[in-house]
Amino acid sequence: MNAPLPVQVLKQHLIDPEICIRCNTCEETCPVDAITHDSNNYVVDPDICNGCMACVPPCPTGSIDNWRLVLRTDAYSVQDQLGWEELPLEKALPEGADAGAGAQSALADPDAPAPSSAMAAPFSPAGASVPPWSAAHPYVNLYTHKAPMTATVVGNYRVTDADTESDIHHIVLDFGDLPFPVLEGQSIGILPPGTDAQGRPHHARQYSLASPRDGERAGYNNLSLTVKRVTEDHGGAAAHGVCSNYLCDLAKNDTVQVIGPFGHTFLMPNHPRANLIMICTGTGSAPMRAMTERYRRRIDTGENGRLMLFFGARTERELPYFGPLMKLPRDFIDINLALSREAGQPKRYVQDLIRERAAQVRDLLSDRNTCIYVCGLKGMEVGVLDALRDVAMQSGQDWSILHDVLRREGRLHFETY
Ligand code: A2P
Repeated sequence: MNAPLPVQVLKQHLIDPEICIRCNTCEETCPVDAITHDSNNYVVDPDICNGCMACVPPCPTGSIDNWRLVLRTDAYSVQDQLGWEELPLEKALPEGADAGAGAQSALADPDAPAPSSAMAAPFSPAGASVPPWSAAHPYVNLYTHKAPMTATVVGNYRVTDADTESDIHHIVLDFGDLPFPVLEGQSIGILPPGTDAQGRPHHARQYSLASPRDGERAGYNNLSLTVKRVTEDHGGAAAHGVCSNYLCDLAKNDTVQVIGPFGHTFLMPNHPRANLIMICTGTGSAPMRAMTERYRRRIDTGENGRLMLFFGARTERELPYFGPLMKLPRDFIDINLALSREAGQPKRYVQDLIRERAAQVRDLLSDRNTCIYVCGLKGMEVGVLDALRDVAMQSGQDWSILHDVLRREGRLHFETY
């Protein structure tokens, strides 16, 4: 009757602030809204997290996969975590604490292997959390906040017309003799110099590669990024993008601190005759440029499948890489430009063009060798999904089944912001 109550122990889920690149993937994925953030950190609320692991596979860096055994009464609060610069060390539990019986039963075992792809897929609301089956093996986290690498700027030029509001730059970084293996669809982190309002070093900002795996210039140890100078926030209020302005103002021979690479799912298929449907807006064109260039460089091999591109921008002059894109042969890539503010033309979004080209999209959708990539504005996600659903339904296909197959097979990928 007077037996002591078991001391409750919690396997507390934590995010490593030193590795996290603040990409928001975990917060978007968490089905119970246990993850939140401020300008400093992404954190997990111990009172809400049920250890479902949904956030673990999609995290590009692995910073999400950290756990501490703590007394439930001593769990690190959201406020504690928001102030962290690094994870706390493991603390010894007091004698009598029963990690087995007292641990939060709903919590998954952090030592258990990551969920299989079939299990992981449903956690991703719209896209796959696995790569296509034939994707090459990606390297991730080779360079970290604690040990970044120094790259040299070898090119920086504007790829939108000078008299437009969209100041988008193509920036080429060279890695000299240091290994930096990447794949199309991966991203890197840039550490902008200086400190924030609290005097802390700025966080890394993540940018997708715009060049293919063998370099911006084939055979060179370099890569490129597509960066839009941020001068206003999503609501149109004036805002100064710390990293985008830093990058857009870099000169040749300046050096940059780089971490990464990141990303293990938004990868292109490697098997012959794989088709790509690429849907993007603005700087979301970076991974599409990388993949297209990979295909272009092997145009004579006969291995390429079909490429279909839906590209949204305000006007032609604000569409990054407009000139080089339009020079690509039409039998190599099917280009569909959705312009929303072109004088004398009706406003069009990428989803409108997907519907207009329904027959061709349907044809590609019915081929298991087709992978779909969506990158750019968050707002287009719903519109694109609706358009794909309409196209599938027109041919009598059940979109919910097809959508599930596309996710499970790593054939539908979203990277939106
Ligand atoms: P809009 O003219 O309505 O802003 P941005 O230049 O801001 O990066 O946007 C790139 C393109 O994406 C623009 O043409 C923009 O149109 C368009 N866009 C904005 N919202 C959506 C949406 N919900 N779905 C698809 N495209 C969109």
